[in-house]
Amino acid sequence: MSQQDWRKSVVYQIYPKSFNDTTGNGQGDINGITDKLDYLAYLGVDYLWLTPVYQSPMNDNGYDISDYYQVNKLFGSLDDLRTLISEAHRRDLKIMMDIVINHTSTEHQWFKDAYNNPESPYRDFYIFKKSKGKGPPTNWQSKFGGNAWQQETETDDYYLHLFDVSQADLNWDNPQVRKELHRIVKYWIDFGVDGFRFDVINLISKGAFKDSERTGKEFYTDGPHVHEYIHELNRATFGDTDLMTVGEMSSTTLDHCLKYTQPERQELHSVFNFHPLKVDYAGGDKWTNASMDFLQLKEILMDWQVGIYEGGGWNAIFWCNHDQPRIVSRFGNDATEALRVQSGKMLAIVLHMLQGTPYIYQGEEIGMTNPNFTSIDQYQDVEAINAYKSLLERGVSEAEALIILNQKSRDNSRTPMLWNDERHAGFTEGEPWMDVNHNYRHINFQQAMEDPNSILQTYRKLITLRHQYDIVTYGDIEPLYMTHPELFIYRRNYEGKSWLVIANFSEHSVPLPESLNIEGAVVIANSELNQRTIEGYGAMVIAQEEKWEKESE
Ligand code: GLC
Repeated sequence: MSQQDWRKSVVYQIYPKSFNDTTGNGQGDINGITDKLDYLAYLGVDYLWLTPVYQSPMNDNGYDISDYYQVNKLFGSLDDLRTLISEAHRRDLKIMMDIVINHTSTEHQWFKDAYNNPESPYRDFYIFKKSKGKGPPTNWQSKFGGNAWQQETETDDYYLHLFDVSQADLNWDNPQVRKELHRIVKYWIDFGVDGFRFDVINLISKGAFKDSERTGKEFYTDGPHVHEYIHELNRATFGDTDLMTVGEMSSTTLDHCLKYTQPERQELHSVFNFHPLKVDYAGGDKWTNASMDFLQLKEILMDWQVGIYEGGGWNAIFWCNHDQPRIVSRFGNDATEALRVQSGKMLAIVLHMLQGTPYIYQGEEIGMTNPNFTSIDQYQDVEAINAYKSLLERGVSEAEALIILNQKSRDNSRTPMLWNDERHAGFTEGEPWMDVNHNYRHINFQQAMEDPNSILQTYRKLITLRHQYDIVTYGDIEPLYMTHPELFIYRRNYEGKSWLVIANFSEHSVPLPESLNIEGAVVIANSELNQRTIEGYGAMVIAQEEKWEKESE
């Protein structure tokens, strides 16, 4: 795989704390990942993205870094990481590190020096502002709830934290800060990693510090100098290497994402955007109990697919990550075992045939579901706990608040990986830091590997198809029947050939549109057509030799 174009690769995301525990302390570790490399090679992925393993007080599970040059003891040591990298390389697997440089932990030495000391040289590493008369400098909201400014204990000043109060935003306008951050990235390149995922990288350039009629995000999202700073980062660090990069873009726009990824601009290789995953936010509010708007999902996905393709940028495509609920429970159906398997495969096919680099989040490939916790005590995530409090304050009942958390919380994806049907699903010999999903006896990796019809086997096949057929990587994308209320249909076209993708997002059988030409050879499918009817959650890809005339709807 070493010579392969990075565009053909598939990335597997690992949340180390919940992946595999080798010490018995109930939390996963780096050696636990090394132990499972054969499994990841069997799956066939190319890159492994590790969410942060640096030193951290873990208020936001590692996205609060207190030392960028050290590994969190909880996860192991720098040597363990070296071993992981070399063992991964032996299997043609590459390692991507998660770089969190919009903010540091307030436990970071820079912040400790800066705090309460206006004379500190590190004061200007962060964003300290005077109080506006009484109260915080602006009314901006933290993404985890509450005001985004925290007052110091001994001065009147406040510091900015767009996330948790223990995650202080860095001042990228200070050239010294940028230099230190470049040093960190270079350190990891020299360490031998193969790529980076840059956390909330479109929030680094803050604009005017003014009160907002909304949350404040219009002032710092894709801010005034963001492209300049990312270009500079590219030039100073990975730009002339063969490392692969992806930027996490919060509430971004298509235009900005084109700029982030057009190769000639020398910024990043690819971007995550979250708009397609907000189609179950009632009135734009995540913390609501709502079902998804299917037409909106298709529209947003396809706008981005076509827009990024035509503009010469590059998408990262994903259903799941450590911040999102499990997709089979969300856009699929986990009500019965048969529906779970069928819809899990359908979602995999739809996503992996899209244009861009696919990401698989640990457990997605075996169809892990949301855990449906029954008590708030089972939740661990700072965001979920804040949201629960604020729902109750708004008068929502405890029962309803739990339903909402069960649907939306980030903890849905953070439960331990299910390896087998033994105690704690084989994740740990100790007591797991977070409850193991109750359905582990029938949903686990061992089972999925032994069953030739498992969701896992569909993922393996999809990865192989991407590696084998250029159309999956380089083909253009043509949305079809966009107003169909149940079917998701699109076509990929490349060098005179087309692959037609048809997926049924509903539980019942649906007749195919009469004008749809389905002649051709089936490449992959989770069901058969019965007189041009596709069964509930059915999906198929049909290879057609020539590009057919576009059907009218
Ligand atoms: C990103 C991460 C998320 C984290 C946040 C703050 O959105 O994916 O887990 O809480 O950034 O670093």
